[in-house]
Amino acid sequence: ADDKLSRVRDAVGAHEGFPKPGIVFRDIFPVLRNPSVFNDLNDLIYEAAKAVPGVECIVGLDSRGFLFGPILALKLNVPFVPVRKKGKLPGAVERVSYTLEYGSDEFEVQKDSVSKGQKVLIIDDLLATGGTMKAACQLMEKLEADVVLCLVIIELTDLGGRKKLTAPFKTLLEYE
Ligand code: PRP
Ligand code: HPA
Repeated sequence: ADDKLSRVRDAVGAHEGFPKPGIVFRDIFPVLRNPSVFNDLNDLIYEAAKAVPGVECIVGLDSRGFLFGPILALKLNVPFVPVRKKGKLPGAVERVSYTLEYGSDEFEVQKDSVSKGQKVLIIDDLLATGGTMKAACQLMEKLEADVVLCLVIIELTDLGGRKKLTAPFKTLLEYE
C-alpha cells in the first residue's frame, strides 16, 4: 500500500504561482493520465472506505469528487450521489452557502437522494480551507444522513481545513 501511495504522490503535479503568485497548486489530473497509477489510487480509496464499516452511500463533490466517487460506489455496490454547485440539479433540492477565498457559492443536493439515518461517505480530491467539505456535511445534516467519513486524496495541511469538520476525516496525502 505504501508503494501505491508513493506512486500516487509522485504523479501529483505541482504548479507554482497558479492561479496566483505565492500559491502552489496541487494537480490530481496527471494521476489519471497513467492508468496503472490511477488504478493504485482507486485501490487506496477503496481500502480507506472498507476500513469504515457499513458505508451505504458515496457522496461526491462537484467537480473533482465525481472522478473518484462513482468508481468507489460501484466497488462497494452502493449508490453514488452528487453534490453540485447551484442551479444544476433538477427537482427538490436542499441548499447551503459556503465561503470561498473570494466571495461565496452555493451547493445543492437532491432531497430524495439520501435517506434519513443513511451512512454516507463524502469524497473529494482535495481539502484546502475545508469550506467545501464543511458545506457538504451541512447538506447531509439537512437530510439527516450520518456522515461516517470525509475522504480526500490531498490535504493542504497549512490551511487547517480539517478543524472545520466535525465528522471523521481521512486524507491519503498531505502537503504543507
Ligand atoms: C477545489 C477542490 C475542492 C475545493 C477545496 O474545487 O476540488 O472541491 O476546491 O477547497 P476548500 O477546502 O478551500 O473549500 P473548486 O472549488 O476549485 O471547484 P472545481 O472542482 O469545480 O474545480
Ligand atoms: N489544487 C487543486 N485544487 C485546489 C487547490 C490546489 O492546490 N487549492 C484549492 N483548491
